[in-house]
Amino acid sequence: MHNRPPGRRCGIVIAIDGPAGSGKSTLAALLAKKYGYTNIETGAMYRALALKAIESGTALDDGNALVALARASQIELDPRPEGNRVLLDGRDVTERIRQQDITDASSRVSVHPRVREWMVERQREIGAAGGIVMEGRDIGTKVFPDAEVKIFLDAAPEVRGTRRFLQHPPAANQEAAVLAELRARDERDRTRASSPLVPAPDAVLIDSTDLALDQVVDRAAQIIEEKMGKLTGGAHG
Ligand code: DC
Repeated sequence: MHNRPPGRRCGIVIAIDGPAGSGKSTLAALLAKKYGYTNIETGAMYRALALKAIESGTALDDGNALVALARASQIELDPRPEGNRVLLDGRDVTERIRQQDITDASSRVSVHPRVREWMVERQREIGAAGGIVMEGRDIGTKVFPDAEVKIFLDAAPEVRGTRRFLQHPPAANQEAAVLAELRARDERDRTRASSPLVPAPDAVLIDSTDLALDQVVDRAAQIIEEKMGKLTGGAHG
C-alpha cells in the first residue's frame, strides 16, 4: 500500500491551476489521456452557472440569488475521448459557454464566496475517488489542498492572448478588446477576496511562455511520475 489519502480508490489527484490562456485545459486533457484519468474542467461549471444567470435574468452581483440558482441547477461534465461535454439541466451547452459574454460573466459569478463554496463541494464529490486531472484557479489551494501533484501553469499575458485567439478567433478588429478583457479577468481572478488565483505554496510552477506544448507536457509528466514513484516507493520505505 502507498500513502494515498484514504478514500481515493482510483489514483491520485493532479491539480492544475493558472490564469486564462496559460494552456491549462490543453495540458489537463493530454495528461488525462496519458494516465487514463478523468479530466475535470472546473471553469466550465462556473461558465454553466453564468449562462443560467444570464438566461434567467439573475443579477451577476447577487451572490444569494446565484447560489439559489446553482442549487436549482444540474451542471454535469460528461467526459468523452474527444473532450468534455458540458450539460446544463440536461442541455448540451459546451460551445455556448465559450462565447465572450459567458467568459466575462463566469469570472463575475466566481467572486461570490457562497457560489464558490457550492462549486468546491461539487468538485470534491466529483474528484473524491481520485484518478483525476482537475484544472481551475483554486484546485491546489482550496478544492484539493492535499492533491498529490500540484502544478501552477503561467505564461506572459501577450502569449496567453495569442493562444486564446488561436482557440477562439475574435471578430474582426476585436483583438485589442479581447486582450483587454483577458487582462481585466485575470486581475479580477487574482485579486478577489475569496480564493484568489495564487499558486499553492507546494505547487510546482511551469512558465510556458517560451515552451512548446510537448515541452510543457514532458515537464508535467516528469513531476507526476516522480511523485507516483515516490508514492509506490513509500510501500517499501
Ligand atoms: O478556466 P475558465 O477560463 O473556463 O474559467 C472561467 C472563469 O471561472 C474564470 O475567469 C474564473 C472562474 N473560475 C474560478 O474562479 N475557479 C475555478 N476553479 C475555475 C474557474
